[in-house]
Amino acid sequence: MNTINYLFLQLFLNLALFGRTKSDPDPLQDYCIADPETPQEFSLNGAPCIDPNLATSSHFTTSALSKPGDTKANGFNVTLTNRFNLPGLNTLGLTMARVDIDANGIVPPHLHPRASEVTICLTGFLLVGFVDTSNRVFTQQLRPGESFVFPKGLIHFLYNYDSLEPAVALAGLGSQNPGAQIASMASFTSEPSNPVEILKKGFQISDLNAAWIRRNLGG
Ligand SMILES: *[C@@H]1O[C@H](CO)[C@@H](O)[C@H](O)[C@H]1NC(C)=O
Repeated sequence: MNTINYLFLQLFLNLALFGRTKSDPDPLQDYCIADPETPQEFSLNGAPCIDPNLATSSHFTTSALSKPGDTKANGFNVTLTNRFNLPGLNTLGLTMARVDIDANGIVPPHLHPRASEVTICLTGFLLVGFVDTSNRVFTQQLRPGESFVFPKGLIHFLYNYDSLEPAVALAGLGSQNPGAQIASMASFTSEPSNPVEILKKGFQISDLNAAWIRRNLGG
C-alpha cells in the first residue's frame, strides 16, 4: 500500500470506527467574538479555575435556592445557580433553577438554546408542556413529587393552575449557561424593536394589534 492510501485508510478508521474525532464542545454563550488581543496559546470554556489545592467543600454547596424569588413583577421568578453562587459547578455542564409561581401565574412559552431541562413540582399544581418541531404539543399536570422533561431548544411553559396557592418547582438544566428566550418578549419587546412589518406579517396582525401586544408585555 502506498503512503497516500495508507493515510486515507488511517483517517477513515479514525473517523468511522473509533470515533476519535470529536465535534466542538457546545458553546457556553450565545456568541463569542474572538478578542484579537488574546494570545494564540490562551483558550477558555467557562470561567478560569482556581488552584485545585485551594478547593473546599464550600465551593460545592449553595443556599441560593433556599429562599423564594420575588414574584411581584411577573407572577413568577426563576432563581438560578451560577458560577458565582456555586463556583464548583463551573465547566460541569449543569444548572439548577428554583421556580416560584403565583396562584394562576405562568412562566410564559420560552426555550433554552443550550439545555434540556427536567422539572420536579415541589409544591402546588402545575400544568407544563412543550411543543416539538412538528408543532405537536405535549402537556402534563404535575402534583408535588412529579417530574417532566423539556427537550433542548424546544418551546415550553409552566402554569400554576391553582387559583389560591403559589407553586414551587425545581429544575435541572444540562448546561452551565442554558440561556432563555421568551417567545413573546423576543417578538414584541426586543431592543431595538423588530420591524413592525415582520410582526404584522409574522403574526397576521395589524399595526394596532402589534402596539397593543407590545404595551401589554411592558415594552
Ligand atoms: C426575583 O427575585 C429576586 C430575589 O427576591 C429579585 O432580586 C429579582 O428582582 C426578582 N426578579 C424579577 C424579574 O422580578
